[in-house]
Amino acid sequence: MANRRTVAACDLGSSKVCVLVGQVQPAGYVDIVGVGEVSCAGIKRGIIVDIEQAANTIRRAVQKAEQMSGVPVHSVTLGLSGSHIGAMFSSGVVATAREDKEITIDDISRATEAARLVPLGPDQQVVHVIPRQFLVDGFEGIRDPTGMVGSRLEVQALVVTGSQNAIQNVIRTVERAGLAVDDIVLSSMAAGRAVLSEAEREAGTVVIDAGAGTTDFAWFEGGMLRWVGVVPLGGDNITSDISVGLRLPIPQAEEIKKSHGVALEEWAADDEMISLSGPGSDGRQLSQAVLARIIQPRAEEILSMVADRLMPAGLRTAVPSGVVLTGGSAGLRGFRELAEKVYNLPVRLGRPDPLGSMADMLADPAHASAVGLLQYGAGLASQSNQGVSNRRHEDGMLSRIWEFLTQWF
Ligand SMILES: Nc1ncnc2c1ncn2[C@@H]1O[C@H](COP(=O)(O)OP(=O)(O)OP(=O)(O)O)[C@@H](O)[C@H]1O
Ligand SMILES: [Mg+2]
Repeated sequence: MANRRTVAACDLGSSKVCVLVGQVQPAGYVDIVGVGEVSCAGIKRGIIVDIEQAANTIRRAVQKAEQMSGVPVHSVTLGLSGSHIGAMFSSGVVATAREDKEITIDDISRATEAARLVPLGPDQQVVHVIPRQFLVDGFEGIRDPTGMVGSRLEVQALVVTGSQNAIQNVIRTVERAGLAVDDIVLSSMAAGRAVLSEAEREAGTVVIDAGAGTTDFAWFEGGMLRWVGVVPLGGDNITSDISVGLRLPIPQAEEIKKSHGVALEEWAADDEMISLSGPGSDGRQLSQAVLARIIQPRAEEILSMVADRLMPAGLRTAVPSGVVLTGGSAGLRGFRELAEKVYNLPVRLGRPDPLGSMADMLADPAHASAVGLLQYGAGLASQSNQGVSNRRHEDGMLSRIWEFLTQWF
């Protein structure tokens, strides 16, 4: 943005587009001064399915946020999700350049660039390279080697990848809405930033952002990102199961899910009867237990798929100390308790805790990723003001140099 003291973020969800405007405070905190939220059309599971509709939705959300804040929005930090997102481990090794062998930011950048070179499929590109640890002359466990002395610098990194076409379509849509994209950030990473405490990111915690179309997750450990992924299922699937199972139109199934749904069969009373009203209901009644029998298997499937996808990160050998459940679907009653059963770990609900006059509107799980994206943009803006360099890559804007991401977590 022209004025780096104002930042904006755009979260493209399957159910809603959320645009936030914030004022960056000196310590890198951000006061949220504008919120624009519009029910979404044209985006499904992190993929643009109708570019014109999606761009219109974004435009309307931006207008609302501008009206509320009185600040024009020119560019945004954009969230990225979708089942095309993948992750892999990589490492990069360089010889240190200086004669006195002091390790510089330039050495670290070269090592990170080397770690970026991973085998990619035809439509894949690197989204983030996130250092997990550095090794200096073979000594492990170093978080920040700047200023140390050594001949050989190795970085072990997590490389997040995504489909080039899907990413370009998201960028085009935002540009068609009249905005520039400052940065693209993985949604689950942003959600983790918004709802996890520093102690949780240190101890080893998985954040699960259960949305409408996707369930995004990120495993943090030792203050760093250990693994990420996206399951292409969410609350929409629960709603459509109810719609099919009870032969109800989608809006009605959605309404019943929110007002009477529970994710644990044992919580549902057989004698609590729900009267169906509206089209397709014919004055029928059903018990809450019947509803729970539809919801629980799908909720369990989503949670199990997350566990399966954590396996490549070593779920058998290292177990996170807890799980934080966020996203709109975290509002489903009994979902947290079901997650405790499935994972056999403590699970808490994650709500963002933003600052500013609009904070109250955003302190619910559905806004975790939007708030995290704004905090990311604010952190970056405040670093730019302090003269920390941010390097962009030729293949777009994706990927930041190590210093920001490591300090961010
Ligand atoms: N009280 C509730 N009980 C059950 N489900 C709920 C409740 N409140 C919201 N949801 C569900 O949460 C989902 C919306 O969550 P969210 O706003 O996080 O999704 P999104 O960000 O738009 O989508 P995605 O991130 O998947 O692209 C919907 O499926 C909605 O039905
Ligand atoms: Mg979402």
